Amino acid sequence: MNSAEKVFIVGCGDVGIRVARHLFATGCHISGFVRTAENADRLQQLGISPVLGNLDEPESLVNLPTAGAIVYYFAPPPGGGFKDTRLRNWCAAISPDARPARVIYLSTSGVYGDCGEMTVTEETPPNPQTSRAKRRFDAETFLAEWGKKERVPVIILRVTGIYGPGRLPVMHLMNGTPLLNAHEAPSTNRIHAEDLARVCIAAADKGVDGDIINVSDGEHGTMTQYFNAVADLLGIPRPPQVNREEAARLMPPLLYSYFSESRRMDNRRMLKHLGIALLYPTLAEGLPSCRPDDWQTPPAKGGNHP
Ligand SMILES: NC(=O)c1ccc[n+]([C@@H]2O[C@H](COP(=O)([O-])OP(=O)(O)OC[C@H]3O[C@@H](n4cnc5c(N)ncnc54)[C@H](OP(=O)(O)O)[C@@H]3O)[C@@H](O)[C@H]2O)c1
Repeated sequence: MNSAEKVFIVGCGDVGIRVARHLFATGCHISGFVRTAENADRLQQLGISPVLGNLDEPESLVNLPTAGAIVYYFAPPPGGGFKDTRLRNWCAAISPDARPARVIYLSTSGVYGDCGEMTVTEETPPNPQTSRAKRRFDAETFLAEWGKKERVPVIILRVTGIYGPGRLPVMHLMNGTPLLNAHEAPSTNRIHAEDLARVCIAAADKGVDGDIINVSDGEHGTMTQYFNAVADLLGIPRPPQVNREEAARLMPPLLYSYFSESRRMDNRRMLKHLGIALLYPTLAEGLPSCRPDDWQTPPAKGGNHP
């Protein structure tokens, strides 16, 4: 990425700020879109130009710095329905003379649905089951069509569970939330937030229009193994394990939903096409970087990220 480039991060939260930190060294100008004055101040302090608005309020989407910019679109879809109305509002706000140079869209591996023990490549047909995954797939589809119509290259990253400093499931562990038995827990994959940030930047540099790339460290595990590893890292008791019937009753619904689909993600396209050398190819290598200095105080943000 050369220093003349403009970058606009829509949904400039945890991953957005990590991307910005990597990009500062290139000298490009970085703007971040956030909803609250408090978050705008935070971005300002970090050296990111804040743009205040709300993707749920089309009237707030004016003078967005998209013209010729590399856009990282990291905002999630809304909490209900089957469509991503936020993304639609954002696309509708971009006039032809403010087209971005390209858009990197952060989607989720959830769009593949339940794949059992099958290896999931980018050729695996999407089969979103949950309404959350349906909204994601709607976002992907809508953005790809918009990009074709507006001649804006779109690159889609299908990201697995993100972990990293400040985003371990500390609250769940502190609450003693039971988990589904290790032997019943479905396969899942993860990616360290720092590696994800590097993948996003590589996608902007090397990705081409229409690319869909799975993002994962390539290590297959289960959510129960992950929670146990985090408990061990923090030196607190591992959560009690229960059978599926009890898990459905006792686990918070959102957390339980992460135990209801199985996927074993293939990350070869990410490694080869984007030339990624992972900093943290396994959980065992990544977790030590996440140990909070003061873990008994739940982190202000991300403490419940599974
Ligand atoms: N957690 C995972 O394991 C996982 C896996 C795959 C993909 N993802 C997706 O990856 C993306 C980035 O993750 P992250 O951890 O960086 O998330 P994050 O820290 O929650 O950041 C998301 C950003 O989107 C902004 N946003 C949300 N709704 C908005 C709205 N209506 N208008 C304007 N901005 C809005 C938030 O603004 P505020 O600061 O104002 O709330 C926040 O800055 C998200 O879309 C997430 O769903 C997550």
